[in-house]
Amino acid sequence: MIVIIDFGSQTTHLIGRRLKDLGVKTEIISPLETNKFLQKNKPQGIILSGGPSSVYENGAPTITEKIFDLQIPILGICYGFQLISKLLGGKVIAGKKEYGPATIGISGGALILHGLESVFTVWMSHGDEIIKLPKGFEVLGKTPTMPFAFVTNKNKNIYGLQFHPEAEHTEFGTRILENFAQICGEKILIEKINIEELVKSIQETVKDGYVIGAISGGVDSTVAGTLTATAIGKKFIPVYVDNGLMRDGTTEFVKTIFKKFGIKPIIIDAKKEMLSKLKGVVDPEKKRKIIGNFYIELFERELAKLSKTKKNIQFLLQGTIYSDVIESQGTKHASKIKSHHNVGGLPKKMKLKLLEPVRYFYKDEVRSIGKQLKLPDEFIYKQPFPGPGYAIRIRGEVTIQQLEKQRIADNIILEELQNANLLSKVFISFPVLTGASSTAVKGDGRFFGEVVALRIVESTDVMTSSWAKIPYDVLQKISSRIVNEVPNVSRVVYDITTKPPATMEWE
Ligand code: XMP
Repeated sequence: MIVIIDFGSQTTHLIGRRLKDLGVKTEIISPLETNKFLQKNKPQGIILSGGPSSVYENGAPTITEKIFDLQIPILGICYGFQLISKLLGGKVIAGKKEYGPATIGISGGALILHGLESVFTVWMSHGDEIIKLPKGFEVLGKTPTMPFAFVTNKNKNIYGLQFHPEAEHTEFGTRILENFAQICGEKILIEKINIEELVKSIQETVKDGYVIGAISGGVDSTVAGTLTATAIGKKFIPVYVDNGLMRDGTTEFVKTIFKKFGIKPIIIDAKKEMLSKLKGVVDPEKKRKIIGNFYIELFERELAKLSKTKKNIQFLLQGTIYSDVIESQGTKHASKIKSHHNVGGLPKKMKLKLLEPVRYFYKDEVRSIGKQLKLPDEFIYKQPFPGPGYAIRIRGEVTIQQLEKQRIADNIILEELQNANLLSKVFISFPVLTGASSTAVKGDGRFFGEVVALRIVESTDVMTSSWAKIPYDVLQKISSRIVNEVPNVSRVVYDITTKPPATMEWE
């Protein structure tokens, strides 16, 4: 087993995920638990994760220096690497900030470099910089701006990476982790997700109870719902809230999902009420909270109705996946990025236990479960769509007019990507009504209208993404159609920011 000490990076769990994919057992612990953990366990390797703190700040999370005497291979990533450097006598300062891609050149025959090309792309996300390495360390790789991007202390079996090997966009990232696992003496063995076990675990959890399920028409809740329907059949009651913030066709789609189990979802029409709750609200987090709370309110109402006939509803099913959990609540040292409405926030008075069968899986794993459950491909590879829907793609107040603009522009982008055969190749695409205005000349008159930003990104694990290199003629077509067909739009711009630093959504 390899222990991962979590200093709060948004991608710590991806380190575990990559190793899990390789069949390596991992455990993620807080730095405060290290001593206790090491007294009870003998891991084969130690990974120190990245994190949002700076090692030179008072109170920054740290670790016992005893780990350097254990003769166990150690890999430090970003903050973890900086911490190793500081503890062993190097120097870290607030230095060059880098977020996104960088090109690394490596050299040497170290085992950790096996199978890597000599030049490749890595993903950076740091604000601090090591300016002096501790004694005994040598450089294995550097970027044009980072002389100590990849280092080792051969005698002590310590490795340091300034970049994130766990990020999907780091080329050979998994290979570096695999090499490290092999240095630790781990056997690499790929395991397949076991659907029967997932279904059995739902049956064992739920026993005789009924499950009410929040479904959105998206991949996560559909996969979670299908697992539940497979496990308990008609004791699963799916509920869909039609809040007017979803993509066209969602309600119709939702009606068909559980047909083969003989299950008909309950559909709550909350379009009008939703808009009135969002009236005058501009703050994105407030929007999320209002939508989340309203959703819970509606569920409580529905539950009260259902409880009159079906007494034994004990569970609420949610399609929470791992990236939602990390971004919403993080871990002890992680920053909260935003509140996803589908995690937490359930009032105690609801008295339902949560059932989250895909909570520990990443998006691509959820899709692979969907495939094993024989859900149709066009659905499994459908774009994810955020719970708060169009509300977080409209900067400023959500009104009927803005919703209509968002809907037309969204459909144009989807249509044009489909026409160009690109829709299945991108992770997510959408317009943002930016709330900014700019000048245009339409006909013969000056016109001051809204700027629409296009966001089209590529990703599989959701935690990192790059902007899609859409051919210019397709971008041109989308831009022309949006300025012509969407009311009051003067200009279209393309968002070319990677994640990190920018999130995919604007709000
Ligand atoms: P970000 O913007 O966090 O987006 O890079 C990553 C993925 O999460 C979706 N997203 C949300 N989903 N509730 C959701 O259910 C939310 O509040 C929310 N915010 C972002 C986003 O659409 C993308 O797929």
